[in-house]
Amino acid sequence: MSSILRAVVGDITTLHVDAIVNAANRSLLGGGGVDGAIHRAAGPGLLEECRKLGGCETGDAKWTRGHRLPAKFVIHTVGPVWRGGTQGEADLLASCYRCCVEIASELGARSIAFPCISTGAYGYPREEAASIAVSTVCDTILRYPAVREVIFCCFSEKDLEIYQTLLNADSER
Ligand code: APR
Repeated sequence: MSSILRAVVGDITTLHVDAIVNAANRSLLGGGGVDGAIHRAAGPGLLEECRKLGGCETGDAKWTRGHRLPAKFVIHTVGPVWRGGTQGEADLLASCYRCCVEIASELGARSIAFPCISTGAYGYPREEAASIAVSTVCDTILRYPAVREVIFCCFSEKDLEIYQTLLNADSER
């Protein structure tokens, strides 16, 4: 049975999934946007655990427990800063999605929710980022079938519309 992919709009910190993905920075010591929201909702224990991780390279991901979040785990990934598209941004963004699915599978997480990585402070064009997100997740879950459900948690109706169009097109493939 194939995995379920769907898009929703809402606050990722409220989702009752096994793992939520954080769009972090290389320090893993918190920030604004979804990073700030996740740390606020998870409580101070999350930062304490993050301190022990020693940072994270762009395109890579590391996991922690979910602390006060409904999610059991937080998978922290560092997306690329958009620099016009000629600095390998697409490959780095794809790597974020791939690493997160791999870690989710290793953790035994059956459901995972992604925010729209790099499309806020890091300035990645939302349409291109969404296309990379959906295509990379579709390819990666074929190799990690234990991950049964992937939710793209949008924070705007515009992003939701973009993801729904991509997911509908994919389901017709
Ligand atoms: N739930 C879901 N999505 C959210 C939430 C939330 N609570 N808050 C913000 N978002 C969305 C934004 O609207 C955007 O679509 O997450 C997406 C990613 O935006 P950012 O959080 O700005 O992340 P990013 O663009 O990857 O920049 C990362 O910003 O917060 C800092 O520490 C972080 O330095 C890092 C940088």
